[in-house]
Amino acid sequence: MCPPEHFAVEYSINAWMDPSTPVDAELAVKQWTTLREALAAAGHTVHLLTPQPGLPDMVYAANGAVSVDGVVYGARFRYPQRAPEAQLHRDFYYRLGWTFVEPAEINEGEGDFAFVRGMLLAGHGFRTAPAAHAEAQEALGRPVISLRLVDPRFYHLDTALATLTDDTIVYFPGAFSEPSQRVLRQLFPDAMIADETDAVAFGLNLVSDGRNAFLNAEATGLAAKLAAAGFHPVPLDLSELKKGGGSVKCCIAELRGPRAI
Ligand code: ARG
Repeated sequence: MCPPEHFAVEYSINAWMDPSTPVDAELAVKQWTTLREALAAAGHTVHLLTPQPGLPDMVYAANGAVSVDGVVYGARFRYPQRAPEAQLHRDFYYRLGWTFVEPAEINEGEGDFAFVRGMLLAGHGFRTAPAAHAEAQEALGRPVISLRLVDPRFYHLDTALATLTDDTIVYFPGAFSEPSQRVLRQLFPDAMIADETDAVAFGLNLVSDGRNAFLNAEATGLAAKLAAAGFHPVPLDLSELKKGGGSVKCCIAELRGPRAI
């Protein structure tokens, strides 16, 4: 995670960002801190990146890479405003001693890659280039399933789909092309389905550890569905970060380290 110390909405690179809307940076830090503390209280270890002035979107740490088994496929950002972030993530993984694969193709890390059932579901259509899906498969040695996003409000896969357990997902079908919806139905016939209200409330931008589901507090319908399915929803108010087009999942890069032998 990366504290939103320099968070701002100074440019617009997604449908949610409006530079004329005021952002309360202090409140953003407070809300983000509540998320960090909720993760710690649930027993999770959180590593921090050092926020850099001039990189207001750095708080969305999920976009910096995707890792599996201690192998890291680095990001290459679509827009120049965020390009320098990639190197800061790379440095972090080098310090951990993990294997880092430099990307040639545009991709925004866990923003567009979700790990489930030992494979990666990958979004394209707005940010990550389709060619990056094949590159990620070669980098990580895991099957990559391409899914096409069609609604600009859901410009990253992680705004429309989330992993709930090692083998289950929740998603909003309307964010995907009709053929990609068929792919999802074929692979995950029992998936939890979220509605447009949940999706617009950034409910799908959640992180689940298989028990606790950390999600945007506005997504009350989805929280109820999760509770009914046996999860423990942890609602979080991230109103300020939503102005940049992100919520819980965007703030968290999950670290999948080397497997113990
Ligand atoms: N303002 C950021 C951007 O448009 C938000 C990124 C949200 N991150 C995410 N994982 N969906 O790039």
